[in-house]
Amino acid sequence: MTHLTLTRRGLGAVALALGAPSVARAQSGVFRIGLILPMTGPFASTGRQIEAAVRAYLRQHGESFGGRRVEILLRDDTGTQPDVTRRLAQELVVRERVKALAGFGLTPLALAAAPIATEAKVPMVVMAAATSIIPSRSPFILRTSFTLPQATKPMAQWAARNGIRSAVTMVTDYAPGLDAEKAFKEQFTADGGQVTAELRTPLRNPDYAPFLQRVRDAAPQGLFIFVPSGEGAAVMKQFAERGLAQAGVRPIGTGDVLDDDILNDMGDPVLGMVTAHHYSAAHDSAENRAFLEAFRGIAPNARPNFMAAGGYDGVHLIAEMLKRTGGSDDGEKLVAAAKGLSWTSPRGPVTIEADTRDIRQDMYIRRAERRDGQIWNIEFDTIAQVRPNI
Ligand code: DHB
Repeated sequence: MTHLTLTRRGLGAVALALGAPSVARAQSGVFRIGLILPMTGPFASTGRQIEAAVRAYLRQHGESFGGRRVEILLRDDTGTQPDVTRRLAQELVVRERVKALAGFGLTPLALAAAPIATEAKVPMVVMAAATSIIPSRSPFILRTSFTLPQATKPMAQWAARNGIRSAVTMVTDYAPGLDAEKAFKEQFTADGGQVTAELRTPLRNPDYAPFLQRVRDAAPQGLFIFVPSGEGAAVMKQFAERGLAQAGVRPIGTGDVLDDDILNDMGDPVLGMVTAHHYSAAHDSAENRAFLEAFRGIAPNARPNFMAAGGYDGVHLIAEMLKRTGGSDDGEKLVAAAKGLSWTSPRGPVTIEADTRDIRQDMYIRRAERRDGQIWNIEFDTIAQVRPNI
């Protein structure tokens, strides 16, 4: 072992002297992970949450798995330009010789990077983006976030069973929003409800006021909402200001709307709102308490949201892949090791399905409640082991 290490160092020194640092890196014992996230721009909260969760995991579990010390190379793709994400992914695999890619805050960004993962044969762990079709875009994609149908269908079913017979949907006008819109209509109409209007709000610089005015005029019993993480506060502020609650419209949605990162600042208007999602910071389990404590050690003033849960589980998945392959660099072996893997996440029991490489998990129906002066999504019903392609 000592001899091997010395030899590696020796080669590295020669390579460095010849001005080829990438050779030195490729032969070192370090396993590099390229983490591409929106660290600036309108979706920076997603990047902040995931980065903190990844660092929390490594502080809690150590940095070596299967004999490899992992090193995180963080890159900011600013969240809005797929070509930037693709270029960063390319640079990370070619120049920095990363052996795994991870992160991917929004669907268009994950889709842009997929061909790079395929070409380089490097596992790509999607920690955030949530449109159903993403893992079908490369055999190297694994996902630890969720899918919109997975959250939406239980929400639609709950609504139909709890006195909501007519609903309007309001979703952000891009792939995950359209995924949610379709899933809601399918389930809600199958359960006897009626969707009376389908509204789509712009992804960039959205103003929700005119859309909510239309909802007020249509006066449905329920309004189903999906917006990406970080946008919920603006929607719910307008919902309150337009007097929709007084008009008898019950807001429901995926948990993205009442994201734990911003929930506590959303105030009284959201109390009582029911959403469906896979993670709540209020989830009552030993695993979640350990996660909250580790997260606090990295970001003392923040509450982890579902993005953080996706990041924490994503790095856990990479750690397990390394352990199960004895620290392999071989992308195909690493992906094979991830297929069918089950563990107890801070969110509850999860499995990476062998056939889809996507995540199967419990979904929770939650109500926003004030407890000890803070607002939390309190889980009150569980739909066990919901498939990603429900
Ligand atoms: C996506 C982004 C989000 O912020 C979110 O909450 C759900 C989905 C996405 O782009 O896939």
